[in-house]
Formats: sequence, C-alpha cells, structure tokens
Amino acid sequence: MTTEKKHKILKNLILLKWLGYRYIDPIKIENSKKKINLPNKLEDLRQIVLNCHLCQLSKTRKNVVFGEGNPNAKIMFIGEGPGATEDETGKPFVGRAGQLLTKMIENVLDIKREDVYIANIVKCRPPNNRVPTEEEAKTCLAYLVKQIDLINPKIVVALGSTSYRYLTNDNAPISKIRGEIVKYKDKILIPTYHPSFLLRNPSKKKEAYLDMLKIKSVLWEN
Ligand code: URA
Repeated sequence: MTTEKKHKILKNLILLKWLGYRYIDPIKIENSKKKINLPNKLEDLRQIVLNCHLCQLSKTRKNVVFGEGNPNAKIMFIGEGPGATEDETGKPFVGRAGQLLTKMIENVLDIKREDVYIANIVKCRPPNNRVPTEEEAKTCLAYLVKQIDLINPKIVVALGSTSYRYLTNDNAPISKIRGEIVKYKDKILIPTYHPSFLLRNPSKKKEAYLDMLKIKSVLWEN
C-alpha cells in the first residue's frame, strides 16, 4: 500500500472517530520493510512528512520536526525525537539538549551548526518525551532513510541508543558502541551519547568529547 493510500485511510479513520466511532483494535502499520516511493527532492519529501498521519504521534504533535541544516552537509546528527521546545518551534534540538549539541558541533568540530544537518528517528514529539515505540520508529524510519540518501553525508552520528538501534538494527548498549566506526551503507556511522543523557550525567562529557574528536578526524581525512 502506498504512503498516500495509508494517509487517506488514516484521515478517514480520524474523521470517523470525530463522528463518535471508536477503534476496536489499534491499527498496525508495518511499512518499514515495504518499498514506498518517496520523492527525490528534499523539499518534496518535507511536504509529505509535514502532512503525515501514519502513526498516533500525528494526533498529539503541534509541529512536525522534519530536520534542518545544510542539505549538502558532510555530517548528519540523528537524535531520538522532538521534545517540547522542538514541538513548539518545528526545529530539531533547540531546547537545553540542543544548546549542548550546538556547543559540541561549534566548539569541538569547529563547524557552524547551520553547516551540518540535524534530524531525528521520529519527526513528531512522543507525549511526555517517552521513547518512541518500535512501531512509531519503524513507520517514520523510511522518511529518515530517504533524507539521509538525499543529503548523502560522509558521516552519520547516531545520538544515543534509540537512534543507533533503529539506524543499524543493532541492540548494543551505547556505552559499549560509542566512538566506534560502524559501516552504514556507503557511509560511516559513529554513535555517541545523546546530549540529554550528558546533561543528566556530566561525568560522561569527556567520553563524548573524545568521540567528537574522532568524528572530526574522520570528517577531514581523505
Ligand atoms: N532530543 C532529541 O532526540 N531530538 C531533539 O530534536 C531534541 C531533543
């Protein structure tokens, strides 16, 4: 089934719900493995994502957080999902964790934030900042995979275990895998701690700093 068809069905179901009908079973949409045709232009992809209703996060979001940055970036940072500030503004990583991420990018990598690209595993805020469910993450992943394909960075940085797990299908704990160079298609993936984790565990900032130095050296090597 195409994304457009699913979108229409879900819209109709939401309309029926407004009219007083109730769902009997939760809708299961398992589309991550099926081929869906997504556009080859980032702006066209953005328009589709802005109108997405494929999972329940679409019912509670204020704004879709598509991602932002340089569409030709050599490096992409992938977080878990938007928080409250991101949901309000439609921009990724603009709250406290975002301020720390910006410092890590600008002070350690020595690149301006607008020269990298930042996105998330899910593009709508999970209520109360809970971890996205597997179904939400896998439903949204097709958009992110296409986004990575179109931006075509040299390095993808997975921020935290949720990001690493859904990008690679590997359940390794982030504390074990951080700083390693992992093959991701024709790209290099380097996992590191999520900035929110670093805010809660400042003693881990040193390891994150070392990861950023490694990212910097890989970024500039030929
Ligand atoms: N945490 C995330 O994982 N992503 C954001 O955009 C903000 C906070």
